Amino acid sequence: MQVIKTIREIREAVYTARQAGKTVALVPTMGALHEGHGHLIERARRESETVVVSIFVNPLQFGPGEDYGRYPRTLDSDLDFCQSLDVDLIFCPDPPELYPQGQKTFVEVDEIPRELCGRSRPGHFRGVATVVLKLLNIVQPDRAYFGEKDAQQLRVIEQMTADLNVPVEIVAVPTVREPDGLAISSRNRYLSPDQRQSATVLYRALNAAHQALCAGERESVKVLAASQAVLDQDPIVRKEYLEVVDAGSMSPVTTVNGPVRIAGAVWIEKTRLIDNLYWKGE
Ligand code: PAF
Repeated sequence: MQVIKTIREIREAVYTARQAGKTVALVPTMGALHEGHGHLIERARRESETVVVSIFVNPLQFGPGEDYGRYPRTLDSDLDFCQSLDVDLIFCPDPPELYPQGQKTFVEVDEIPRELCGRSRPGHFRGVATVVLKLLNIVQPDRAYFGEKDAQQLRVIEQMTADLNVPVEIVAVPTVREPDGLAISSRNRYLSPDQRQSATVLYRALNAAHQALCAGERESVKVLAASQAVLDQDPIVRKEYLEVVDAGSMSPVTTVNGPVRIAGAVWIEKTRLIDNLYWKGE
């Protein structure tokens, strides 16, 4: 496994792989790797001959007062993890390598970022779309892998690559969960044991909504009431949003008549957790 910090060297390494006729996969990450990333990497490993993992905590996607400074940076263990999964190339630039003179050009996707996380994190998806396009331009992979836990991010990236004709296949990988349902996330490590216990309420709340849909309920207000009743059981957990959204536009729907996601964000003290469940419609 080669660990690379510069754009010039990662381009050379990918060029060499291409010259040898190999297909290239990119798994973009911010490090603090866990089993969820493991699934992305394993899928990439199965589907491509060269696997590149980028590790970069992207300042552009954090707002003022968010956790950029305290976001976990665990490069040594991330490298061991990638080695154990047979990754070929790690691209872990320092911020000045990607943003040498700041950044004056941004990718702004319309509509999809408006609701859910976009409401409380203005500029977040612009930061995500911009860095992902930069990484795609640098590595030029055949495929890039993203988790469905960040469903709104996934849609932003799908839309951006389609609209800008980026020649890459975006592969969506299902959310990986702990046995009690908690979606695996780098931010789970902020939780104390008690908070970790409470954190499952988000999955249980989404599941209640999913069950309401399975039972035939189609009015979002009623579907969400089922979720809210579960959230109310744990006063430690503060709701940021709970919505039934169209799975394509990520805009809230009042009546469910096609594929949707039930999406939620909660705060447990200073930790913000998000999750969602897909409902394919009839
Ligand atoms: O999901 C993440 O870890 C990040 O948002 C991403 C896609 C690597 C962009 O920084």
